[in-house]
Amino acid sequence: MNLKGRDFLKLLDYTPEEIRYLIDLAKKFKIMKHEGVEHKFLSGKNIVILFEKDSTRTRCSFEVAGYDLGMGVTYLGPTGSQMGKKESIADTARVLSRMYDGIEYRGFSQEIVEDIARYSDKPVWNGLTDSFHPTQMLADIMTAEEHLGDMKGKTIVFSGDTRNNIGNSLMVVCAKLGINFTACAPKELWPEESLVETCKRIASQTGSIIRMTEDVMEGTRDAHVIYADVWVSMGEPEEKWAERIKLLKPYQVTMDMMNNANKDAIFLHCLPSFHDTNTTIGKDIQEKFGLTEMEVTNEVFESSKSKVFDEAENRMHTIKAVMYATMGEDYEDSSSAWR
Ligand code: CP
Ligand code: NVA
Repeated sequence: MNLKGRDFLKLLDYTPEEIRYLIDLAKKFKIMKHEGVEHKFLSGKNIVILFEKDSTRTRCSFEVAGYDLGMGVTYLGPTGSQMGKKESIADTARVLSRMYDGIEYRGFSQEIVEDIARYSDKPVWNGLTDSFHPTQMLADIMTAEEHLGDMKGKTIVFSGDTRNNIGNSLMVVCAKLGINFTACAPKELWPEESLVETCKRIASQTGSIIRMTEDVMEGTRDAHVIYADVWVSMGEPEEKWAERIKLLKPYQVTMDMMNNANKDAIFLHCLPSFHDTNTTIGKDIQEKFGLTEMEVTNEVFESSKSKVFDEAENRMHTIKAVMYATMGEDYEDSSSAWR
């Protein structure tokens, strides 16, 4: 498997074998990290991570993974660089790719990260756009496999705003890997028809079943993973809350829903999550709408079925795998540190 020089913009660009390879590579990196084995395989290289939206997990994963691999890391936030305001994306990408060996971008439209990749001759990684969040998916499948074993033929249900970046990406990764995917949401929040068609076409080759339903109990019956995300994503206007709360309250992940799923079912969430009122937005929603928990109840979030912190940790191992595979040499030959 040779992914050297490849961009990582969306999973539609990757074959099932390539996705499998990246998850397996991340599992190896996780063992090394837990055993305290140094693996500065990319020593001497530098990366730049561009964030037009906020981040905890993705930013810290790129930073820690970069340091663990021996690289220098530069963070550029929403302010403080010329990008977008005085300098076009195309010019920025050409400048940065002269200085750095890899570029991460988190921001708004998918076209921006695709443009950066077009103008950069170094690997570009998508750290979340309005349409896709591909690095998140590697961590999600890795976490599901750690708890449930081989996921092929098992079912992941996404309950909530299934048209968002997570819903889209989850449908794609499931189709690619032969995992059944159910979008459980009101019709107006189902993923776009063209993406559904694309995923169904892929699914017909991998044996995955892609379904949409408005019926929560039917949708979650016997599911192996129930997945939730925020009801209003970064970049969407605040006014969306009222409409989304009305549409999505019946799709809140509850213990009844978990009990309707497979007996070993786990709960996943990309995080951050509104499962209590210990955040400024959480408090604000409580004052305006009287809700104390949103996409998932605190009971589910804090239960043993919830594997969200394993999932968060796996962001780092999977991002490390993506950077290493796209920047590094063939890992099998590179070092005796490999187990
Ligand atoms: N899941 C995720 O991408 O989290 P951050 O927004 O904190 O990076
Ligand atoms: N859908 C969420 C995902 C956050 C990781 C957002 O875009 O805000």
